[in-house]
Amino acid sequence: MEVRVLPRKRWDATLGVPGDKSISHRALIFSALGTGLSEVKNLLLGDDCLSTKRCLEAMGIVFDERGPGHMLIRGKGLEGFSEPSVVLDAGNSGTTMRLLSGLLAGLPFFSCISGDSSLNRRPMKRVIAPLELMGAKIWARGNNEYAPMAFLGSSLRGIEYRLPVASAQVKTALLLAGLTAGGTMSIIEPMKTRDHSEHMLQAMGVKLCIEGTSLSMDGRQALCPLAITVPGDFSSAAFFLAACAPLEEARLSLTRVGINETRTGFLDILREMGAAITLEEISEAVAGEPCATITIRSGRLRGVTVGGPLIPRSIDELPLLAALATQADGVTVVKDAHELRVKESDRIKAIVMELRKMGAAIEEREDGFEVKGTRALRGARVISHGDHRIAMSLAVAALFASSETVIEDAGSVSISFPQFFDLFHTGHIEEGVPHGSH
Ligand code: S3P
Repeated sequence: MEVRVLPRKRWDATLGVPGDKSISHRALIFSALGTGLSEVKNLLLGDDCLSTKRCLEAMGIVFDERGPGHMLIRGKGLEGFSEPSVVLDAGNSGTTMRLLSGLLAGLPFFSCISGDSSLNRRPMKRVIAPLELMGAKIWARGNNEYAPMAFLGSSLRGIEYRLPVASAQVKTALLLAGLTAGGTMSIIEPMKTRDHSEHMLQAMGVKLCIEGTSLSMDGRQALCPLAITVPGDFSSAAFFLAACAPLEEARLSLTRVGINETRTGFLDILREMGAAITLEEISEAVAGEPCATITIRSGRLRGVTVGGPLIPRSIDELPLLAALATQADGVTVVKDAHELRVKESDRIKAIVMELRKMGAAIEEREDGFEVKGTRALRGARVISHGDHRIAMSLAVAALFASSETVIEDAGSVSISFPQFFDLFHTGHIEEGVPHGSH
C-alpha cells in the first residue's frame, strides 16, 4: 500500500488513539493463565496482538468477543493449556514470540513457534539462554539464536538472573517461566524497562517483591481474573505529539493515553526540546496504569541529547525523534540505542536512509544518530522497510516537507495502529471506535 502525505501548517483537534500494544499482549496472555473469567476492554486489535490471540487459541484458549476490543477470556490456569497441533505463528511480533517462549518452556508439551522473515532474523538467544539456565529444553535455528524455535516443556526452577540487555520482553518471558517454575525467580535489570507485567500480575493477586531494578517472585502462584480497560497507547499518541510540536499554529489533545512513566520518556524529551505540554484528567490507575489527556501546543524547538536510562523509556519513539529533530534548532544526538538495530527493521539504518531522501542532515552512529535541524525537508518517495514505526515516523516528517511525500509499504501500520492514516488524514477513525466500549 502506498500513502500520500501533504505538508501541513495548522492543526487543532482532540483525538483518541487505540489501546496500548504492550498492555494488550499481556492482558491476553495473563488472562489466559488466570483462574476464572477475565474482562478486557479497549484491547488493541492490531496484527501483533492478533498473533498473540491466535497462538493462545491454538493452545485451547477461547476468546468471547463482545464488541470491538471488548473480550471475555476464560482462563485455564497454569495447567490447563493444550498441546498445539500447529506451529504457533507470531507473525511480525517480537513481543508474542518472546513472551510466549517463557510460557512454552514450562508447559508440559511439545510446541514450535515461528514468525515472518523479519521476526525470524531477530535475536532470541536473550530469552533462550536464561530459560535454559532454568532447565528449559529449547532448539532454535542458527546455533540456538533464531526462530523457528521448538520447546519440550519441562519442569523449571527459579534462578537469579542479571539481564545483559534492558528488555521488558525478556523480563516478562522470565516472569512467565517463573510462574510455572519451582522456587523463586529473581531478575535484575541493567536499567528500568516498561513495567506493565509487574502491575498486571500484582492486579491479578501475584506477590512480587520489587526494589528499583530488582524483582523477585515465588513460582506456582495462581492468577485471579483480570478486569482492565486498556489505556490508549502512548507510543501511538507520540506520532501526533511530534506532528503538532513544530507546526506554525497547532494544538492537539490526545485523550485517555497511558502515562506509565516507564513509557513516557518521549514526553520528557519533548519538554526538554521546549514543547508546551499539559496533562489533564489524570485518572486513577487501573491495574497500575494511569491515563491522562495530553495536550501539546506548537512552538519553537531546540535539539537534545538522549542516552542512558531515558533510552528504554523512549525506545519505540526514537525513529520519530529523528523526524522531529529535523525541525529543531541545533543538533540532536541519540546514543546508547544499539537495540534499535534489532527491532522490526534496523531502525537506525532505515530512518537515516529515508529521512536523507527528504533532505535531512542526519548521520548514522553505531548506537544511534545525529541530526542537524534544518527545517527544510522536501517531499520524496520513501519506504517503510516493512516497519510500522518507520512508516508513521515518515508520515510525520512528511508534514514538515515542502511538497507531497509518497510512503511505500505503508500498510505495515496495521501492526500497532491499523487506523493511523484515517486519524492522521481526517482527524477521526473511520470504522470502530478508538476506545472500544468502556
Ligand atoms: C515491548 C518492549 C520493547 C519494545 C516493544 C514492546 C514489550 O522491546 O520495543 O515494542 O511489550 O515488552 P524490548 O523489551 O525488547 O526492549
